[in-house]
Amino acid sequence: MSNPAIQLTDVQKTYHDRGVVRGLTFSVAKGECFGLLGPNGAGKSTIVRMILGLISPDAGRITVLGEQVPARARLARAGIGVVPQVDNLEDAFTVRENLLIFGRYFGLNTRESEEAVPSLLEFARLEGRAESRVADLSGGMKRRLVLARALINDPQLLIMDEPTTSLDPHARHLIWERLRLLLARGKTILLTTHFMEEAERLCDRLCVLENGRKIAEGAPNALIDSQIGCDVLEVYGGNPLELRAIIEPHASRIEVRGETLFCYAPDQAAVRLRLRGCTGLRLLERPPNLEDVFLRLTGHRIDA
Ligand SMILES: Nc1ncnc2c1ncn2[C@@H]1O[C@H](COP(=O)(O)OP(=O)(O)O)[C@@H](O)[C@H]1O
Ligand SMILES: [Mg+2]
Repeated sequence: MSNPAIQLTDVQKTYHDRGVVRGLTFSVAKGECFGLLGPNGAGKSTIVRMILGLISPDAGRITVLGEQVPARARLARAGIGVVPQVDNLEDAFTVRENLLIFGRYFGLNTRESEEAVPSLLEFARLEGRAESRVADLSGGMKRRLVLARALINDPQLLIMDEPTTSLDPHARHLIWERLRLLLARGKTILLTTHFMEEAERLCDRLCVLENGRKIAEGAPNALIDSQIGCDVLEVYGGNPLELRAIIEPHASRIEVRGETLFCYAPDQAAVRLRLRGCTGLRLLERPPNLEDVFLRLTGHRIDA
């Protein structure tokens, strides 16, 4: 990849003798949406903090927008907008004041910031909310305000740590739509998430992490095709171990998690035929997704 927006090479970070980020290499091309996908504790926020130059890696190299990080992180930061995992807004201040305070931080004068406010509020779907106190906003509105605030210096690169965690589905979809608009405007996005659906819908490419290690990398569809490559039948309601024995001859792989059996098979019609005599079953046939990829690579589900 020539001239990537972000490049990590063999990056390590250890806390108390425990490798939290282990030999991580990836690059993010300009204009793409790149995802770091992994469960809680996988090391996502630690990677983000290293990319921003807030903490130093113990080994390895990081380049962001052509600058070595952390040595020249201040220069890189001028071109980056950040959405941290936890909203760090000034609750007692209004929406407008929050944007102005941040503008000052980026060296904008009051007039420049004032001029930016209307279009930022429009982008964030917060029109008419300029004088609301942050404490009175919903969770989704706060998240969109943090996103608007991250855009005040018109950054080319956005780094977002779990942009939609703890939002309801409607608020989440609104954020996704805003992010697509930013991508259409040519921005580069690095986001972290533990939502498979978010990664699948938004990301051009992603890096799947577990315990600080990369376990897979690629375009969501390519990962799904190469790792799974067939439809999935979820079966609940019976005894998974008995069911396993019945369908085994037709399955390329079977996973049992709790009360659910996941059957991966090139010919699901044949599997259904085998199950015809079993009563009380509920069957769900669906295309494969990143959840299946994660399950296959780790042996467990992302939220388990
Ligand atoms: N400052 C720190 N000191 C000690 N351990 C830390 C520190 N920051 C993170 N960790 C540990 O590193 C691991 C990865 O954390 P984190 O990067 O926050 O993961 P994620 O964002 O994927 O949930 C966790 O086990 C966490 O407890
Ligand atoms: Mg985190």
